[in-house]
Amino acid sequence: MSRLGHFITFEGGEGAGKSTQVARLVERLRALGLEALATREPGGTPNAEALRKVLLEGLEEKLSPASEAMIFSAARVDHLDKLIRPALSRGAYVICDRFADSTRAYQGGALTQSFIDQLEQLAVGDNMPDLTFILDLPAEEGLARADARRGNGKADRFESEAIEFHRGLRTAFLTIAEKNPQRCVVIDARRSVDDIAQDIWSCVETRFIGEPR
Ligand code: TYD
Repeated sequence: MSRLGHFITFEGGEGAGKSTQVARLVERLRALGLEALATREPGGTPNAEALRKVLLEGLEEKLSPASEAMIFSAARVDHLDKLIRPALSRGAYVICDRFADSTRAYQGGALTQSFIDQLEQLAVGDNMPDLTFILDLPAEEGLARADARRGNGKADRFESEAIEFHRGLRTAFLTIAEKNPQRCVVIDARRSVDDIAQDIWSCVETRFIGEPR
């Protein structure tokens, strides 16, 4: 792929503050006159947003982990084809709230390593992010934040999973970071929004823009 731009993803469990940090990063890049777009998964294109509805709220019966992983991946292929790759090839920064690591963490626990590796290879291939921030915090804290944010709204398919599932997610994301040290940066998400944003900015600036000023 001809990639002139930069592909940056945010990952982590529930309530880690990813969407706030995506917005902050996009704002800082745009302030420098750079083209930056914020997107999310599942979603980012009309078809992928339709699949998001099905995945998070639309089903009578739970899907099997394999079919769920395949639908997340199908949404990802559409997102890559129609939005991410075109933006990267014209030189934009693409900042995405969740990507393939979420499939590995959320669905992978119930699948074999080989299934998830092959699925990722088919759906994403060499379109993996240049940089991934893993916003890390204890599962209990994240869920409490997600509850507070939701108010009286209904918990979605994943928020309503048991605490053990959410603890497992944290471990899964940290394992992904360990296995991909060039791509992944673990961020302590228990700190203030400003402190986290500053760490993220220093990292982006060093890698892609120049030495920190
Ligand atoms: P969202 O409301 O965006 O949650 P969050 O604010 O925590 O990011 O919903 C996305 C949900 O979908 C989230 O619970 C994680 C889950 N998910 C997967 O299980 N697999 C995936 O591949 C992706 C992209 C998301």
